[in-house]
Amino acid sequence: MTGFATTAIHHGYDPRSAQGALVPPIYLSSTFTFTSVEQGAARFAGTEGGYFYTRIANPTLDLLEQRLNALEGGAGAIAFGSGMGAVTATLWTLLRPGDEILVDRTVYGCTYAFLHHGIGEFGVRVTHVDMTDLHALATALLSGPKLVYLETPANPNMRLVDIAAVTRLAKAQGALTVVDNTYCTPYLQKPLALGADVVIHSATKYLSGHGDVTAGLAVAADAEIAQRIRLQGLKDMTGAVMSPQDAFLLLRGLKTLHLRMERHASNALALAQEIAAHPAVTRVYFPGLDSDPFHALAKRQMKNFGGMLAFELKGGEAAGRAFMNALQLIARAVSLGDAESLAQHPASMTHSTYTPEERAQAGISDGLVRLSAGLEDPDDLLADVRQALAAVAQSEVPRSQPVSV
Ligand SMILES: Cc1ncc(COP(=O)(O)O)c(C=O)c1O
Repeated sequence: MTGFATTAIHHGYDPRSAQGALVPPIYLSSTFTFTSVEQGAARFAGTEGGYFYTRIANPTLDLLEQRLNALEGGAGAIAFGSGMGAVTATLWTLLRPGDEILVDRTVYGCTYAFLHHGIGEFGVRVTHVDMTDLHALATALLSGPKLVYLETPANPNMRLVDIAAVTRLAKAQGALTVVDNTYCTPYLQKPLALGADVVIHSATKYLSGHGDVTAGLAVAADAEIAQRIRLQGLKDMTGAVMSPQDAFLLLRGLKTLHLRMERHASNALALAQEIAAHPAVTRVYFPGLDSDPFHALAKRQMKNFGGMLAFELKGGEAAGRAFMNALQLIARAVSLGDAESLAQHPASMTHSTYTPEERAQAGISDGLVRLSAGLEDPDDLLADVRQALAAVAQSEVPRSQPVSV
């Protein structure tokens, strides 16, 4: 096995197989021809390898799947048209009516919506448990859930879950563990090596890295589970197939993932330190800060602390809005993991799928601001945050008082 960067750049491709082309070609073909009816039948029956329809497999998707599978250390990967395609296809495949799924307290808004307003309405019982509390998890596992589902760090409030501890408890009760690794990518964290059964990605984010792709991937530790997710969840239940063009862009993005993640992480650390030191700030959520409750776990479980952070300001939601509206370089936008730094307000944007009460239970305050640190020069990002925090402080000055300049 080669190192991470070499694998991300070379794995699964020999230029001699494509007329010497350094960059793998894009197979923009939805269907594939057969030399005979018998060959077509054999491919459909799975008794002969080879492609027949892109919703099931395609050479460009295949290469991307092989590469991410190697990076995550899996037994099989499946590409999807979005992260939600990966989430829904995986859960439709692994759950049946009557099953229970244990979910951590905080998950991405549309995953939450799918659980409660999608699969939860088809006879699957959805139970939330705080997975930072292993005693609570052990108790919840006694009811015999089929699946345990978590994000770490969780979107948007940066709570970390101990993957090795959770998978150990889940396995002992016969439950599978699915980990959404979008925030970390395999460069920072390898859930399968820590005992997880399936890893999910919104490849729209760091794996692509350039904000020009909507895509997802799932990687399974077991080849049979990977094949089931492909043939049920992808082929028959969601049809959420990735475009070969997007697979090409992802293969390009993967080549620089190791470099980008280091820069995202150093920019996020600089931003977290700057924000934490400001008097207008009540709390910063970033595992790279010594004071963060998840710092020790992050050091153990992650290679670096990642590019995402969140924080709350003294004036709550109004101050958060004022901060975001004052930003000049950092873009006001959802998504994450792009070259451009992005700021968003989870309560009214990505996590507006929760009711206010559900958000409170999930630990997502109305004043929370989420930042995705991009790849810009750190000094420019710090200057933008500094002037936006100053603008918040300014707006807090009561109108009746004269403002000295
Ligand atoms: C942690 C996480 N998982 C899954 C998704 C869904 O991915 P997509 O938007 O590519 O469907 C997102 C999107 O923001 C996310 O942040």
